[in-house]
Amino acid sequence: MSRATKVVLAYSGGVDTSVCIPYLKHEWGVKEVITLAADLGQGDELEAVRRKALDSGAEVSLVVDVVETLIKEYAFPAIQANALYENRYPLATALARPLIAKILVDAAEKHGADAIAHGCTGKGNDQVRFDVAIAALNPKIKILAPAREWGMSREETIAYGEKYGIPAPVKKSSPYSIDKNLLGMAIEAGELETLWVEPPEEVYGMTKAIADTPNEPEYIEIGFEKGIPVGINGNRMSGVELISNLNQIAGNHGIGRIDMIENRLVGIKSREVYESPAMWVLIQAHRDLESLTLTADVTSYKRGIEETYSQLVYNGLWLSPLKGALDAFIQQTQERVTGVVRVKLFKGNTMIVGRQSDNSLYSLDLATYGTDDEFDHKAAEGFIYVWGLPTRVWSEKLRS
Ligand code: ARG
Repeated sequence: MSRATKVVLAYSGGVDTSVCIPYLKHEWGVKEVITLAADLGQGDELEAVRRKALDSGAEVSLVVDVVETLIKEYAFPAIQANALYENRYPLATALARPLIAKILVDAAEKHGADAIAHGCTGKGNDQVRFDVAIAALNPKIKILAPAREWGMSREETIAYGEKYGIPAPVKKSSPYSIDKNLLGMAIEAGELETLWVEPPEEVYGMTKAIADTPNEPEYIEIGFEKGIPVGINGNRMSGVELISNLNQIAGNHGIGRIDMIENRLVGIKSREVYESPAMWVLIQAHRDLESLTLTADVTSYKRGIEETYSQLVYNGLWLSPLKGALDAFIQQTQERVTGVVRVKLFKGNTMIVGRQSDNSLYSLDLATYGTDDEFDHKAAEGFIYVWGLPTRVWSEKLRS
């Protein structure tokens, strides 16, 4: 029985997604496979990936460059939201998934495909992100996930591929599961599954080991307009340039490594190692500029929103109505988050050492300990009387 006629397959060039091509055709009766590889700034040679899909039996092989969209429409809103899942993970993989889903749906509609396929297994978050986003964008399209059903071990998968002319990986394949885009890298599995083991230096690709970082700090100035980073050291840059440059600059100081135990949506705890130099620095800097330009109550209320926002993104609900409503709140708060933040980068540390803004709410006349202090000290007495009243009444009652 055929599961679908024409399928758009999310393609990376790896063993699993390559094997999906013959598998869809021979086991699930698919007539035509169109592969789609997304250029997300991961640095892979995508022309080779495009050809590999054709060599593996795809009828059509597409490569779509969406780096700019990833930065503008996914990373920038996440920076405005100071989005860190479980307070640490800058969501590089999670942010890319709804974008990939979107281009898969666009391709399926353009080519008249009746299904979309991906190579996710049944244990991760990515399957949820893809499936939910695809269904939100086009509820009529079928979703096929061969690797969720085929039950083959890695060796069996490679052997299955070889039967259909897909060469086994030449190098002894890495023991790690890696996902990478311009926003960062996620590394799992291999010896990282032993929680006590420090990640070996070889897993890192975007950051230097502290032992190899410069012995002098580096200062940079990051400009923001309405919560969006627009330049470094006074040079205006496109989003892609800015993130690429900052990945280099911060990575050179060993910044943006994260080793954490993470709670997946499917209930599993996993050990994750991330590298996200630019996102890490930008979120710290952005948060500092918010402290200067937003009132205390907005900042504090927004913290709760940020937590929920991060969970929604992580949990595959990018297109949910709640996420849309939170976006509106966050955008409203960013209107006056414009200014420059001075950051000192040194030995893995991101230190905010200066900030300025035309919208600054800091008043030297009020804050100063000097003689030109304008704060009315006498007003404090009445304020404290009223502020402390409920607590005083409560205490008196307890003692009576
Ligand atoms: N744990 C991260 C997340 O859920 C990264 C997943 C990376 N995916 C991968 N295939 N290695 O967002």
